[in-house]
Amino acid sequence: MMRHAAQRKTVHEILRIAMDLEKRTMALYTAFVAQHGEEPELQKFWLTMARHEAGHFGALALVESMIANDPNLEVGRKVWFDDVTIVRLRSLLSAYQREAQSAVPVERALEMAIDLESSELEDVVVDLMHVVEDSVWREQATQFLIHDLGDLSYMVEKFTRDPKLLRRADDLLDRRVKTVRSRKERRGAGKGAHAH
Ligand SMILES: [Fe+2]
Ligand SMILES: [Fe+2]
Repeated sequence: MMRHAAQRKTVHEILRIAMDLEKRTMALYTAFVAQHGEEPELQKFWLTMARHEAGHFGALALVESMIANDPNLEVGRKVWFDDVTIVRLRSLLSAYQREAQSAVPVERALEMAIDLESSELEDVVVDLMHVVEDSVWREQATQFLIHDLGDLSYMVEKFTRDPKLLRRADDLLDRRVKTVRSRKERRGAGKGAHAH
């Protein structure tokens, strides 16, 4: 981890930043819904992607309001936070949103999705979830934050002839599965796994 990028931010600030990024990702996928109207299957895929991002936004809003209502947690509590992922994702999104102002070809749109979904924003946010003390709530919020990317590989396979892109999509899926598995194992290892 690049320690020089770590800084102290309030949990509330981090949630707000993450919510903004989820919303902007949703907006990009929504633009693709409009742009790829000639392929119903693809259009449905982008709509599902956009709906997922809306769900992530909602999960973060839920956490925000839980924290605001928990007398044991101050919203203003500061935690160490490494913003490398956030900075990278924000600049990617700015560039892609500009690019999507004109029609984006299918291959390029799928490549953008792979770039964004590889950014690990969800991992950053899931790690942040240790501030939510109630494990049932934490579990729920975490589950909502994991993006199910099962259809991404299929779409890349169907709509592009690009083996490199397909490999990236498959790798992304593999990584996601491994992350979920190791998270489960960590949880199984007992309490205190998230202690700092
Ligand atoms: Fe997301
Ligand atoms: Fe996502």
